[in-house]
Amino acid sequence: MTTASRETGEKLRERIRHAISSQQQPTVTVLSSLLAVQDLLHYIPDEAVEEVAAFSKTSINEVWSVASFYTNFRFTPPGNVTLDVCWGPSCHLMGAQNVLKAVQDELGLNEEATTEDGTVTLRYSTCLGACANAPVVAVDHHMRGRVTPVSAAQIAASLRKAPPSH
Ligand code: FES
Repeated sequence: MTTASRETGEKLRERIRHAISSQQQPTVTVLSSLLAVQDLLHYIPDEAVEEVAAFSKTSINEVWSVASFYTNFRFTPPGNVTLDVCWGPSCHLMGAQNVLKAVQDELGLNEEATTEDGTVTLRYSTCLGACANAPVVAVDHHMRGRVTPVSAAQIAASLRKAPPSH
């Protein structure tokens, strides 16, 4: 369980307020504040919407409208560990579709999502920058190259049993 993703209450609000108020760029906006929170927590909790609204002296509705416009924001905590599966051109040629199918089957997912038990977030990538080792997956950004459907499914299974601590 990540400390950042599951905490609630005043401690969480303090961290959010610090992230928002520590922005270095000359123009601070609702969007930049939301990005600062996403960088910190990897999702936008309800508390962040309220804090961004207060900091920006605007309404919660206004912050929601900005947040919901951008598809990169997520509003639920990510899983304990992220498993990226590359389906970019090099990986595709080396069998990424079968790797992806095996991982999806293992995790019980059919799209980018977090497993029901909250342990693993599956994401698709268009290139993980390790094409020479295609097909590639990454566990919390650590590359595993030349995977097979079987080895990728084993990786996925191992993450559900003993996800790495952050
Ligand atoms: S296309 Fe998969 S790592 Fe580049």
